[in-house]
Amino acid sequence: MHERESWGSNFGFLMAAIGSAVGLGNVWGFPYKMGIGGGFAFLITYLLLVLFCGCVVMFVEMTIGRKTGKSPIRAFLEIGTFKKLGWFGAICGFLILAFYSWIGGCCIKYLFTYISELCGGAGFGGMSGLDYFVQFGSNPASGIFYLGLFMLLTLLVVQGGISKGIEKFNVVGMPALLVLMVILIIKNLSLPGASAGLAFMFTWPTEGFNFFNTLRMAGGQMLFSLSLGMGCMLTYGSYLSKKESIPKNAFIIPFADTLMALLAGLMVIPAVFAFGLDPQGGPLLLFYTMKEVFAAMGSAGAIFGIMFFLLLIVAALTSAMSLLEVVTSCAIDVRAGKGKSANRRPIACCCALAIFILGIPVAIDGAGISGLMPQFTFLADGSESWLDLYDTIAEGLLMPLGSVLMCLVVSRKLGFDWVNEEVTACGQKWLAEGFYRVSIKYITPVLMSFVLVSLFLSYFGI
Ligand code: TRP
Repeated sequence: MHERESWGSNFGFLMAAIGSAVGLGNVWGFPYKMGIGGGFAFLITYLLLVLFCGCVVMFVEMTIGRKTGKSPIRAFLEIGTFKKLGWFGAICGFLILAFYSWIGGCCIKYLFTYISELCGGAGFGGMSGLDYFVQFGSNPASGIFYLGLFMLLTLLVVQGGISKGIEKFNVVGMPALLVLMVILIIKNLSLPGASAGLAFMFTWPTEGFNFFNTLRMAGGQMLFSLSLGMGCMLTYGSYLSKKESIPKNAFIIPFADTLMALLAGLMVIPAVFAFGLDPQGGPLLLFYTMKEVFAAMGSAGAIFGIMFFLLLIVAALTSAMSLLEVVTSCAIDVRAGKGKSANRRPIACCCALAIFILGIPVAIDGAGISGLMPQFTFLADGSESWLDLYDTIAEGLLMPLGSVLMCLVVSRKLGFDWVNEEVTACGQKWLAEGFYRVSIKYITPVLMSFVLVSLFLSYFGI
C-alpha cells in the first residue's frame, strides 16, 4: 500500500497551500477578469465572495481532507454521500491544468524572448505586445511546444514527492514575486494616464456591467484563485498534521492570495489605461500590457521582464503541481483501493501525458487568435475560445457546484459535531465557530448557487 506522507511543518504546509493558491490565477486571471467583469463592481463582489465563500469552502475542504486523510475520490466514497464528487475534482484538475499549462508555456516563451532581447537577439523584433502575441498564438507548433515544456517542468517537480518537492520551492519564489510586483506597481502608477486605471478599479459606478455576469466571473475567479471546489485543498488538508489549527490556516491562505490578486490588479490595470489598451482585452491582457510596461522602462526593461516572468513561472509551477497532485493522488488511491500497484512516478507521468493531450486544442487555438480551431458561442459575453470553454466548464460550473455540495455534505450529512471534533483536535477552540456554522449551512451554498444560476443566465443571454 502507498503510505501517505505528511508536511514537514505548518510553515511548510502554509507555503505550499499559498503556493497552490497564488499563481497565474492571481497575476494573469484577476486583472483580465476585473477588466471584463466591471472594475470596481467586480472587486467588491470578489472580496465579499472571498469572505463568505472562499474562507468557508477552504475550511470545509481542509476539514474533510484531514479527517478522512484521503484523496477526494476515496474521501467521498468513504463519506458515502455524493460518492462521485471526488471525480469532479479529477475532471476539473484535468481541464484546468490543460489550459493552465498553455498559459504557463506563454510565460516561458516571454521569458525566452526577454533573454534574447537582453543578449541582443531577435527579441520582440520591435513589435507591440499585441502583434507579438498574435504571431505567437498563430503558431500551433510553438504553442504545443511550450505547453509541453511547462507540463514537463510540472511533472519534474511533482516527482520529488510531497514535502521534498513542493515545500522547498515556495519559500523563496513567493516573497520575491511580491517584492517585484510592488516595484512594478510604483513604476506603473507614475505613468501618465494611470489614474484612469485607479478610477476604474476603485470608483462606483462602473460602466456597462451586468450584475449576473460580474457575479459569475467573480465567483469562478475566486474559487479558481483559491484552488477551491475541486478537492485541491482537501488533498493538501489530508497531509496536514492534527496539531495544526484549520480555521487559522483557512483564513491566512485566502488573505495572502487576495493580497496578491489585488497587487496584480494594481500592476496591470493602471498600465492598461496608461498605454491606451482595452481593459476588456480578455485572457491575454497580461501579456499585451506587461510588454508595454517593460518597453517603457528602456534598457532595464529586459531585466525586469526576465525577473517577472521567471518568478511568475515559479508561482505558476507551484500551482500546477497542486493540480497534478490532485489528479495523481486520486489515481494512486483508486489503484491502491483496487489492490493494484500504485507507484507514484508512472502514475504521475500518465496523468501529465493525458493533460498534455487535452491541452493541445487550447494551444492550437491560441486563445482564439490562430483561427485554426472551431470557436464556441455558448455564452452571451462572447467567451468562445477553447481556453474559455475549459475554463467555463471548470470554474463556472463544476467548481461552484462542488463547493455547494461539499457545504451540504458537511452541514446535512456529517454534522457540526463531526467538524468540531476535527477542528478542536489541535487542542484549541474552534475559532469563529458561529460564522462558520451559519455560512456553511446557509450563506455559502446560497451565494454559490447564485453564481451557478448566473452562468445559466449568461448562457441564455440575460
Ligand atoms: N489557484 C491557482 C492560481 O491562482 C490555480 C490552481 C491551483 C487551482 N490549484 C487549483 C485552481 C485547484 C482550481 C483548483 O493560479
